[in-house]
Amino acid sequence: MTDRFYADRDSFDGLLKKGDTKMKKRIAFILIAPVLAGIFILPVFSQEDMEVIDDGGFGVKQRPAVVFRHDEHNELAEIEDCSECHHVYENGEKLEDESSEDLSCSECHDEKSSGRQPGLRRAFHMNCKGCHLENRKGPVMCGQCHAR
Ligand code: HEC
Ligand code: HEC
Ligand code: HEC
Ligand code: HEC
Repeated sequence: MTDRFYADRDSFDGLLKKGDTKMKKRIAFILIAPVLAGIFILPVFSQEDMEVIDDGGFGVKQRPAVVFRHDEHNELAEIEDCSECHHVYENGEKLEDESSEDLSCSECHDEKSSGRQPGLRRAFHMNCKGCHLENRKGPVMCGQCHAR
């Protein structure tokens, strides 16, 4: 009678333990899954989520913000050198192996130009339109970039 009681109890304990670890694994997976997904999504997101260029550097806005899907654009246009746009100058010389992607254009370019440094609007237009004209590829009409 007592032997049977203990035998039953043992197998019941065993069952509970098995179910327990299964449940623990499931809970662990539920908790880890979003973290794993985040690791894969985040690096792509950081640049790909850019849809328009921030026009906060302009006091008065006359045009809609410019559509610019950063990564997609640069892949399509086959631009590999970040400093093509995010440049660094020293004494009027562009530094070949340095780039400034951690800075907004407006952090260096004020609305008014100073010396050889064009004002913010001109800096954008020279950079974007300049390359499009040179390559005869990419939009050059106001409404194509400032699209509603
Ligand atoms: C190749 C793309 C491109 C073209 C073409 C273009 N722009 Fe822009 N423009 C920009 C970018 C980029 C900015 C700065 C970011 C922003 O405003 O979203 C800008 C900024 C401006 C600004 C200052 C911000 C504001 O909203 O007031 C004005 C004004 C402007 N553009 C007018 C024009 C006019 C007028 C034309 C046509 C003659 C034109 N642009 C053509 C890309 C372009
Ligand atoms: C064709 C021009 C161009 C090229 C090439 C380019 N970028 Fe950018 N990038 C921009 C513009 C314009 C902005 C917006 C700047 C601003 O708001 O003043 C920007 C913003 C960024 C930002 C800030 C993102 C955000 O959402 O605010 C990062 C990071 C960045 N670029 C990284 C890079 C890296 C890394 C490369 C090279 C692999 C690169 N860029 C090449 C034009 C370019
Ligand atoms: C770290 C400061 C800095 C940042 C950030 C910066 N610029 Fe400049 N930029 C300069 C200086 C300085 C000059 C003047 C260069 C010279 O002496 O000829 C210049 C010149 C320019 C010129 C004219 C010469 C040329 O290279 O075509 C354009 C166009 C321009 N910048 C666009 C941009 C755009 C667009 C961005 C943002 C994607 C940007 N700049 C970010 C400092 C900066
Ligand atoms: C160094 C050259 C270069 C610079 C700088 C450049 N572009 Fe372009 N862009 C191109 C080329 C080349 C294409 C055409 C790609 C194709 O269709 O093959 C293009 C295409 C585009 C297009 C149409 C395709 C798309 O991605 O939607 C837009 C919009 C555009 N550019 C906006 C801009 C803006 C805004 C800037 C400035 C912040 C800029 N570009 C700076 C080379 C450049």
